Amino acid sequence: MKHEIIEKNIGLMIVLILVAISFGALSEIVPLFFIDETTKPVDGLKPHTAVELEGRDIYIREGCHVCHTQMIRPFRAETERYGHYSVSGEHVYEHPFLWGSKRTGPDLARVGQRYSDDWHNAHLMNPRDVVPESNMPGFSWLFENTVDSSLTGKKMEALRKVGVPYTDDDIAGAQKAVEGKTEAEVLVAYLQQLGTVLKNKR
Ligand code: HEC
Repeated sequence: MKHEIIEKNIGLMIVLILVAISFGALSEIVPLFFIDETTKPVDGLKPHTAVELEGRDIYIREGCHVCHTQMIRPFRAETERYGHYSVSGEHVYEHPFLWGSKRTGPDLARVGQRYSDDWHNAHLMNPRDVVPESNMPGFSWLFENTVDSSLTGKKMEALRKVGVPYTDDDIAGAQKAVEGKTEAEVLVAYLQQLGTVLKNKR
């Protein structure tokens, strides 16, 4: 009997088990690459500007994503606190995603426009000045360092290769847009747009 051949041959059985369970995974994962809900940008979504893009890189460099998620789950406790749950179409231009999984601090997916630039500056300099019980570290050096603008255009070119619709003008003007700005300035610009595309539909 054919089945006996499989049962008596452990190597073959392992291979066939792997094939069998991979169907389950593939049937979940593969469609995500093709359905509109996960591949099409939401209405009004624009790629990050040169300034916001550099801000995002500072966010990654400083490890903000280690303490903050950018992913509001579709549960009432979350949507009441943070706003509309996150949808894939908001993140299609992001490489890599910064959804995160650990919340030492609050989720930041829709923190854009919730506070003033002044608030963010004070908070980044020393969080205790605005939130006395905060245990977030200060990032005072961001106010001294200016951004290295020499690679901004190249970063945008690389992102264009993976589907972010930057125009030649965006790329040509990138260095100028960023030049001379402090790391804090570009980081705050990045924070202030987070989640704002869907915000009004809360
Ligand atoms: C060690 C963990 C930790 C790191 C790293 C960290 N944060 Fe925080 N963050 C917190 C905590 C805790 C709070 C809540 C207290 C407060 O508001 O300061 C917070 C609050 C915030 C808030 C206010 C959110 C709200 O809805 O009130 C913003 C904005 C923020 N952090 C941005 C950042 C940025 C940008 C970085 C990286 C430069 C960063 N955080 C790095 C822990 C962290």
